[in-house]
Amino acid sequence: MRTQVAIVGAGPAGLLLSHLLHRQGIDSVVVERRSREYVEQRVRAGVLEQSTVDLLREIGLADRLDREGLPHHGIALLFDGVAHRIPMSDLTGGRAITVYGQQHVVRDLTEARLATGGQVYFEADDVTVLDVTSSTPRVRFTVEGRSTELECDIVAGCDGFHGVTRGLLPASARFLEREYPFGWLGILAAAPPVDDELIYAYHERGFALASLRSPTISRLYLQVDPTEDLAEWPDQRIWDELGTRIGHDGRSVNEGPILEKSIVPMRSFVCEPMRHGRLFLAGDAAHIVPPTGAKGLNLAVHDVHVLAAALSHWYATGSETGLDEYSTTCLNRVWRVQHFSWWMTSMLHRFPQHDAFQQQLQRAQLEYVVSSPAAATSLAENYVGLPWS
Ligand code: FAD
Ligand code: DHB
Repeated sequence: MRTQVAIVGAGPAGLLLSHLLHRQGIDSVVVERRSREYVEQRVRAGVLEQSTVDLLREIGLADRLDREGLPHHGIALLFDGVAHRIPMSDLTGGRAITVYGQQHVVRDLTEARLATGGQVYFEADDVTVLDVTSSTPRVRFTVEGRSTELECDIVAGCDGFHGVTRGLLPASARFLEREYPFGWLGILAAAPPVDDELIYAYHERGFALASLRSPTISRLYLQVDPTEDLAEWPDQRIWDELGTRIGHDGRSVNEGPILEKSIVPMRSFVCEPMRHGRLFLAGDAAHIVPPTGAKGLNLAVHDVHVLAAALSHWYATGSETGLDEYSTTCLNRVWRVQHFSWWMTSMLHRFPQHDAFQQQLQRAQLEYVVSSPAAATSLAENYVGLPWS
């Protein structure tokens, strides 16, 4: 089997890349370890930056997003029992975020890709990438017991943080990492949201976040110990803790059946460079941000936008300039976003090692952000996403 671009991973990065390439007349095959159902049901991100939404609209993939997505023009920072609204759109010339579940993005992309004749192999076992420093790399995998070899010009490693492609980078590559002493317990619940805008809460018992998916579905998160066992968190304990951390001004957290719950660790991670020979990493395969800035999916979208343009230029002209610049262009944005995500995380979480002095610094920072238009604008600009250059 032969294709121009072999894409490992059918998450948002891999599927969107396949789409963007198809629009440029470039053939690709996507190879995914999990089943289609699993990938389409995995509950994760919810916040799409303005540029992400603009791109999905531009390529005709925003019908459902425009019908069901919820544009948001502000968020609240809640501390010491008072919620302070940051009017993001007013501070950024009208830019906004849209709340739309990642699993819906993946479903829309998969449907559209299959409808346009795209080849996506789900449940591929033993995915192995070979010869990325030659001009004819290959991807080997097994589907339904049949072993297949895919010959290609380029391999896109879109296989997330736990994928295989990053392992092909040479010893000279750098991996920069920071772990945080906490994780997030996230739930999806059939309960009306606390508010129609997101609430980021700094509380002495730990951070909490109230988000939503619709007027009847809430998405809520709690800072917990990273080694916490989900079994220790029966539903009522979760609701009580959310109520304590997020309830304010007579506003309570609405309870309802919990549809999904999980705990994720928090880390910052960057690999440099994001390329080795004919292998290009994109999305979580190359970098992870703590979710407090709501950025991982948006960064993945930016990476594949840059990669698709570089590949299109290469196929059209033979010039490698775009491919050579890929890693640097992406890493510039990655580090801006890393800083923002680290900053939001540091400002809003309780760190076990922090003393009263450190906590007062956090409060001072929060007070500054909600009272200084310049500081609030900086948060808003980064949160809705700096325009792509
Ligand atoms: P993934 O979504 O991880 O996709 C990688 C795919 O590769 C997967 O389908 C995987 O099964 C497949 N794969 C792995 N290994 C192999 C292999 N060996 N062979 C073949 N396939 C393989 N981001 C935001 O922008 N906004 C948010 O609001 C936000 N909130 C978040 C909340 C939480 C709780 C979490 C956990 C994350 C959040 N994120 C958010 C981050 C976002 O979910 C990720 O950054 C995003 O999924 C990255 O997309 P990706 O395609 O790079 O990787
Ligand atoms: C959601 C996730 C985030 O990481 C975040 O910062 C805001 C909202 C969400 O899932 O809705």
